[in-house]
Amino acid sequence: MVFLMTMNAADKTSAALFLDLAGDYVRDGYRRDRPDYGFADDTAAGGAEADDSLEAVAADIAVCERCALCKGRRNAVAGEGVRRPLVMVVGEGPGADEDASGRPFVGRAGQLLDRMLDSRGKIGLSREKNCFIANVVKCRPPGNRNPAPDEARACARFLERQIRLLRPRIILAAGSVASRALLDTAEGVTKLRGRFFTVDSSESPLYAPDGGEEPFMFTVLPTFHPSALLRDESLKASAWEDMKLLRSRLCEIDGDYAASLSPL
Ligand code: URA
Repeated sequence: MVFLMTMNAADKTSAALFLDLAGDYVRDGYRRDRPDYGFADDTAAGGAEADDSLEAVAADIAVCERCALCKGRRNAVAGEGVRRPLVMVVGEGPGADEDASGRPFVGRAGQLLDRMLDSRGKIGLSREKNCFIANVVKCRPPGNRNPAPDEARACARFLERQIRLLRPRIILAAGSVASRALLDTAEGVTKLRGRFFTVDSSESPLYAPDGGEEPFMFTVLPTFHPSALLRDESLKASAWEDMKLLRSRLCEIDGDYAASLSPL
């Protein structure tokens, strides 16, 4: 895979699509519908990452073999959404529906997530408009188990690159796995939820000593994972408080967003 290091983002994307196609024929005997990687053509955010791009991250993810999860995947799930999101949602990892479609949060939990994010215009967030949705690990853990710490670590550099490129105003960490992947803590989401954490990337578990780039700051709001809300309805009241907190912080930083909302 050394040649990948010398390819630009467009070449990497073409190579990944070719590998997808070859895999389709070998595995299934026909070409499967494939979502595009969800990104418009653009240069890297802010100019500081001129030689990296969301397309390059997605292409690297598509051919990644850094941990054993790659062996069971049908599709790696890089993430999708807008390029300058107000909010980046980080979940755990793809489930069966996401593995089949190559898109994040499209199953039952994903449908609930979409409803929470919009909340009939009261929260006013969506992957089409102002969010980017991704996961800690990009390949499906077997049986929908939580990603193991070494799997999360193997994937951390992808998440770090995505955050660096996207520069979301707030990261909504859905559940304990995502919260721990972003914050230097062993606490669970029940203790962490409902407050903002400002994080220096070099002090977060995302830090890779060989990364070579400048550290940057990001803000995280931990909340319950939508799957937890499906299992235990009593958590919904707290999750709603978290969404209102998110709304009020976003209103402080973006007047257009504030003007677009339905009243609470
Ligand atoms: N659960 C997650 O954490 N991520 C997904 O993409 C789907 C379900």
